[in-house]
Amino acid sequence: MKITIASGCGFCSGVKRAIKLAEDCAENDKEVYTLGPLIHNLQVVQRLEEKGVKAVDSIDNILSGTVLFRSHGVKPEDFIKAEKKHLKIIDGTCPIVSRVQRLAEKLTEEGYSVVIVGDPNHPEVEGIVSRARDAIVVRSPNEVKRIKKKRLGIIAQTTQTLSNLRAVVSQVMETASEVKVYNTICKAVLRLQESSCKLAEMVDILLVVGGISSANTKRLFLLAKEINPNTYHIEGKGDMRLEWLHQKEEIGITAGTSTPSWVIDEVVDEIKRDMKN
Ligand code: F3S
Repeated sequence: MKITIASGCGFCSGVKRAIKLAEDCAENDKEVYTLGPLIHNLQVVQRLEEKGVKAVDSIDNILSGTVLFRSHGVKPEDFIKAEKKHLKIIDGTCPIVSRVQRLAEKLTEEGYSVVIVGDPNHPEVEGIVSRARDAIVVRSPNEVKRIKKKRLGIIAQTTQTLSNLRAVVSQVMETASEVKVYNTICKAVLRLQESSCKLAEMVDILLVVGGISSANTKRLFLLAKEINPNTYHIEGKGDMRLEWLHQKEEIGITAGTSTPSWVIDEVVDEIKRDMKN
């Protein structure tokens, strides 16, 4: 059995930055809160909780202390609410997400109707929507038909796939009279999608490690599954079924941008243990 790990998997720069900010806050401040879990990874959130960093659903649930905004970004209302409560604000929004937020504002100022390719329920998309007037969120080209506006500015959630963005743009071109497109997909995500798809072609089985609610992990899983039907999404070694590995020679492992390296290492160790038995 041979184990190959996709290049570029594990924490991205935005996640590393947010975790560092949280750890610094935990060391220096008394009460530290994050608006929603800091990243979509249960193990990391639990570790931070042990250090005193609590996740809350709303700023209404914080009376005093420090609030850390996560890498997905937040709505401008959240900044205003936190300021009114005199909370110490630490902005952990990933700079790549901040750029998408600024582009949404810029396109609105220029008079474009903003189309966001992404998941309407994802916090990152909610934050971007709140910066554009009457933004329209589409998951796929099938949803483009409901767009009636003719001057459109298109941006994407940072974890989208290039093929979906291309497909939406091409569908939009059928009816719109003017289209301005920014490719706002994160380069780290694109590189990871590419290396994971290549690996999916080469191996007998591919394990995609990452939080069940992590958008980029889910997308990696779906992309790889199309190439290799023996692709499984697991949160950690506990979800792995050893019978998946039987009679498999080449095992591939990839992971989302919010998956800690130690979770990947545990999966590798578990496989190695099985190889010995
Ligand atoms: Fe930022 Fe890209 Fe990570 S947008 S949070 S560096 S996946």
